[in-house]
Amino acid sequence: MRDVAFVFFLAAVLCVSVGMAWGIQMAISQDHLMSGAHAHLNLVGWTTMALFGIYYRLTPHAAATWLARLHAGTAILGVLVMVPGIALAITSGEPALASVGALLTALSMAIFLFTVLRNGLGSRSTRTE
Ligand code: HEM
Repeated sequence: MRDVAFVFFLAAVLCVSVGMAWGIQMAISQDHLMSGAHAHLNLVGWTTMALFGIYYRLTPHAAATWLARLHAGTAILGVLVMVPGIALAITSGEPALASVGALLTALSMAIFLFTVLRNGLGSRSTRTE
């Protein structure tokens, strides 16, 4: 597996590429029904995961742990489940998939909270806590 900062950044760029294409499609069709799903793909997928990637690049000792890999797995799976789940909830009123995705996404943020508390921000030589 490539380093976790790269994995987060690649996932983030893929999310915003799809999210922008989706936004352009909504704008051209003037059908904004899916704006909630588009918004979550961009904000949780792009913004949040890019911030995770930057954090792990700034804090290499946090990136070198199994917890960081678990964090990446839950965060990426969370977006992959939550965004189609929101689309499904909008179109059919069925919230189960969105709920599973939301729980995975919340779990990934709980892991990140623990990671920040345990490792601080920055490399050990320039540590900020
Ligand atoms: C090519 C780029 C993008 C296009 C063409 C686009 C297009 C759109 C469109 C047409 C809507 C529906 C607006 C409405 O129903 O009022 C929307 C909603 C939204 N977009 Fe995008 N978008 C783009 C990129 C982004 C990015 C990068 C983000 C966040 C980082 C983002 C966040 C949002 C949010 C939060 C909403 C919901 C706004 C609301 O419901 O009030 N979008 N976008």
